[in-house]
Amino acid sequence: MKLLFRNIKQLLQVREKGITSLKGSQMKELPTIDNAWLLVENGKITDFGKMEEIPTFEEVETVDASGKILLPGWVDSHTHLVYAGNREQEFVDRINGLTYEEIANKGGGILNSAKKLQETSEEELYVQSARRLEEVMKMGTTAIEIKSGYGLTTEAELKMLRVIKRLKENYPIAIKATFLGAHAVPKEFKENKEAYLDLLVNEMMPKIAQEQLAEYVDIFCEKGYFTVEDTHKILTAGKKYNLIPKIHVNQFNSIGGIQAGVEHDALSVDHLEVMTPEDIEALKGSKTMPVALPSCSLFLSIPYTPAREIIDAGLPLALATDYNPGSTPSGNMNLVVSLACIKMKMNPEEAINAATVNAAYAMGLSETHGSITRGKAANFILTGKIPSYGFLPYSFGANHIDSVYINGKKI
Ligand code: NIG
Ligand code: FE
Repeated sequence: MKLLFRNIKQLLQVREKGITSLKGSQMKELPTIDNAWLLVENGKITDFGKMEEIPTFEEVETVDASGKILLPGWVDSHTHLVYAGNREQEFVDRINGLTYEEIANKGGGILNSAKKLQETSEEELYVQSARRLEEVMKMGTTAIEIKSGYGLTTEAELKMLRVIKRLKENYPIAIKATFLGAHAVPKEFKENKEAYLDLLVNEMMPKIAQEQLAEYVDIFCEKGYFTVEDTHKILTAGKKYNLIPKIHVNQFNSIGGIQAGVEHDALSVDHLEVMTPEDIEALKGSKTMPVALPSCSLFLSIPYTPAREIIDAGLPLALATDYNPGSTPSGNMNLVVSLACIKMKMNPEEAINAATVNAAYAMGLSETHGSITRGKAANFILTGKIPSYGFLPYSFGANHIDSVYINGKKI
């Protein structure tokens, strides 16, 4: 069955094949076609053009998109969407004056979520996570990366990754899985972190590889969590199992994690709230995508990633949600795009590029996602009647989505 969108007020992010990422001043360009049509066949974009030149099509289902904007679905390259329960109490503790670090030092934080997850059955974890996945799809996310890292035992890490695998099988959205066993050091290993690293490398990684449960490997490289040396160890071991690095770095401190990531050809380095000139320098000429997570900054009241410095240094930048129960209980990419403009001084064009083309790069989906390109997946957001695309980030917090399509099907 063919699906034809007619009278599209503006078709956004129209790209020729082969564009994988946009950096520096390229990020300001957002190619569009006004008053456009677009044809979908077998779940893929087959053709598009201007309404004045529309050919005649037979046997097509037609959608009238008058007054509406059509853009590629959001790509969310960094989430922890599989988790058990919530952490509202820590939220209240922070309102009352404790810091995120103080809460973690008291056994809250990641270890709190790990305890909850270990006590939750795989079935229940699936149900809770599937609900969140459906929620983000309705908000326009059409590809998503999901991390483990709230298990912290072999059994519980595998449980998380198996839940991600089931989500992959049961939903049309593209999903990539990341092994984040090195998210926090479990209490039992507090005095012997090396033994936990050995467990990750010698027990968990082989099992994950055997069951093909992950594409990427991640580590929280941060004071009080894992060192740069640990990062080298985990990324080197990951390579043996074809796990590509995507790492948590520079959230609270700059300790050399970016340099380690670049050295290992990490696909992305994520967070980057605290950046030194040396960190920016290290990213130049690399294949590593910097990823900012502004709703984490909003929720924790920590600095925003210095997007202007990064982009003005000629680097690319991607945006993601970081959806998780502790630092970002929100999977709303629309809000992320707004925050990027409001708080990080990104232009709407830059923010949309960061949440589509560059985000697709950050999860290895450049071939199929992130732009309106012939042959790519027919994944779209069709907005309501809005005056311009700039209205999306401007009118923050409101829902401007009329419908979302994944592989040519309205969800
Ligand atoms: O990306 N920073 C490390 N991990 C998560 C938060 C984990 C948590 O608080 O549960 C993040 O922000
Ligand atoms: Fe994260």
